[in-house]
Amino acid sequence: MLEILRDRRSIRRYREEEIEADKIELLKEAALRAPSSRGINPWRFVFVTDKSMLEKLSQAKESGSSFLKGAALGAVVAAVRGDSDVWVEDCSIAAIVMQLAGCRLGLGSCWIQIRNRSHSSSMSAEDYVKQVLDLPEDLLVECIISFGYPDEAKRPLAADDLEWNKILTADRH
Ligand SMILES: Cc1cc2nc3c(=O)[nH]c(=O)nc-3n(C[C@H](O)[C@H](O)[C@H](O)COP(=O)(O)O)c2cc1C
Repeated sequence: MLEILRDRRSIRRYREEEIEADKIELLKEAALRAPSSRGINPWRFVFVTDKSMLEKLSQAKESGSSFLKGAALGAVVAAVRGDSDVWVEDCSIAAIVMQLAGCRLGLGSCWIQIRNRSHSSSMSAEDYVKQVLDLPEDLLVECIISFGYPDEAKRPLAADDLEWNKILTADRH
């Protein structure tokens, strides 16, 4: 597990290669195995492989989403409005679980933030994604995780480069 955590980096360039159907099934299984508060599982996932759909979704934001058009898969992570007061946490955990599973499967991935982001001055990124995918009104969209076989190599951060000062001491008396 620690090896996967060390290897995982945000990958935004992908080879033009489809992801095998059985690997996509494993990503779905990983998402559904994520823990959620009170086991409510408020999340809903949309797995998009259609190229023209990925191209449209890549325009969700003015920046930070364009690389989705080169991905083989976009996993949209959403939740049903009102199902849980901590849906953001539940969706985020499911998203990172998918990213780590993808890493284990040799896939690169990157989080694309949708919640609280704009598509344009008059439209939220969330409304744009919902419109493109024709999602029901009561869904809230957290993010899209792009996946594909990596076309860039990123080194794991060295342990010495981690911000160890972000770990605060608990015994200050
Ligand atoms: C909540 C969250 C939102 C993010 N949103 C975006 C995004 O919209 N576009 C993008 O290219 N990367 C996004 N990222 C990826 C971060 O930029 C990346 O994780 C960070 O720079 C650290 O790099 P690393 O993942 O390679 O360790 C997001 C990551 C998180 C956790």
